[in-house]
Amino acid sequence: MPEMNPVARFFVNTFTSRVNRRRYRWLAAHLRWPSTATCLEIGCGNGDLAARIVEGMVLSRYVATDLDPRQVEAARKHLARRYPGGLPASLEVREADMLQLPFPDSSFDAVLAYTVLHHASPTHRDFTKVPTALAEVDRVLRPRGSAVYEEFLHKESIRNWFQERGYALVAAIGHWNRETVILAKPDRSVASGPKKSSG
Ligand SMILES: C[S@@+](CC[C@H](N)C(=O)[O-])C[C@H]1O[C@@H](n2cnc3c(N)ncnc32)[C@H](O)[C@@H]1O
Repeated sequence: MPEMNPVARFFVNTFTSRVNRRRYRWLAAHLRWPSTATCLEIGCGNGDLAARIVEGMVLSRYVATDLDPRQVEAARKHLARRYPGGLPASLEVREADMLQLPFPDSSFDAVLAYTVLHHASPTHRDFTKVPTALAEVDRVLRPRGSAVYEEFLHKESIRNWFQERGYALVAAIGHWNRETVILAKPDRSVASGPKKSSG
């Protein structure tokens, strides 16, 4: 299992407030979803962004996931301090591997991946397994759903992967060496070519 080293783990679990406030504000300004929306976050770290989204946006379900059971535990502890009376009804925290997501096809209106996709391959600069994670994001997203990611590695390759599959760019912003991108999944049930005339 690809694991974060102790220094990386420390930063993922500490000082997250400022960065997630920035992320949340930008998302809230660019993402529109119905109150029935369901949302999956992969590699949720300490769950801080999940809490901000659940508190700030109206949603029916937000599933915050991480591969590493210790990280899931850290998220549960962080959220328990924020919600001493129990998690909001719409928020779940559970283990899941982005390379093999335990969810049915087309089950989410949005999938969020903040600085996670480069973890797909054991060597982060190796793109080889990233398309497997992207294919899983695509599989669990509903048509017209939103794929949201922040990355500092493989930026061009990830954008190209989505755009080759018909995703439309909704918004993008750069910050230091990273970019955050929102893309809309095409509705592939809608024929794109001209219809044949009968008779
Ligand atoms: C750099 S941290 C980012 C955490 C959080 N999204 C943030 O921005 O603060 C990467 C996270 O991805 C998780 N991760 C690594 N490989 C994963 C995989 N295959 N599936 C799901 N999560 C994974 C790690 O455990 C870690 O929590």
